[in-house]
Amino acid sequence: MKAMKQRGEKITVLTAYDFPTARILDKVGVDVILVGDSLGMTMLGYPTTVPVTMADILHHTKAVARGVQRSLVVADMPFLSYGADLAEGVRNAGRLLAEGGADAVKLEGGGSAVLELVSRLTQLGIPVMGHLGLTPQSVHQFGGWRVQGTTPEAARRLLQQAKGLEEAGCFAVVLELMPAEVAAEITSALSIPTIGIGAGPACDGQVLVIHDLLGLLDDFKPRFVKRYAELGQAIAEAVSHYVEDVRSGRFPGPEHSFHLAERREGSGSAQGTSSSGA
Ligand code: KIV
Repeated sequence: MKAMKQRGEKITVLTAYDFPTARILDKVGVDVILVGDSLGMTMLGYPTTVPVTMADILHHTKAVARGVQRSLVVADMPFLSYGADLAEGVRNAGRLLAEGGADAVKLEGGGSAVLELVSRLTQLGIPVMGHLGLTPQSVHQFGGWRVQGTTPEAARRLLQQAKGLEEAGCFAVVLELMPAEVAAEITSALSIPTIGIGAGPACDGQVLVIHDLLGLLDDFKPRFVKRYAELGQAIAEAVSHYVEDVRSGRFPGPEHSFHLAERREGSGSAQGTSSSGA
């Protein structure tokens, strides 16, 4: 990824939380697939990422890893799976690689405990992506989903933390919700890539939550998201058609049914009709 930054090639990052989505992203050629703790909100219906557990992330990382052949799989370390105790953080990061099948982990913040953990993990051969700005696990401390680094002092602090993460061994750093100018300054000060979300166009790459890009949760439309589809609507339409068809007797039709005569002739295979194999 450092080589991509040097060549000026933009890095593409998207979240995925399941096998079919990961397979599509991998086939399309997305560089990095992030099993973000945003799954707490997009997949599990929590209001924040704070309740997400190691078990949740491991479960989804395993599914994603099974669908990926070439993209880099990064698994988020959930709230308090690191930070309280160095050894516990190291063991949890290790589990995401050894059991989950991730290639790297991501953790939030740039304080001394995080820097110590990043340096220990990289010494042990675990690649780490940092995450600064509006770090969602600290949303209660920020008092809401607010743009960070808006004062000169806060911007300077972000720059120092980003440099600290690079020195500690991070291979990339996510910059979330900050003025484009601040992200641009951090990007030119670092030799590792920055991956922006709501941080303007100067970052070395961009990340979005797949549900936002696909319009799956139609009541969530923040300014930094570009929607490339309205899948929430498309799913609702498809399901309504199915409900109408079943209620009116239009489904199943003759082409979806099996008959005794076919069975006797040995051509009653259900293959290719359903992913359940029924
Ligand atoms: O959890 C997540 O999806 C993230 C990205 C938004 C960067 O951390």
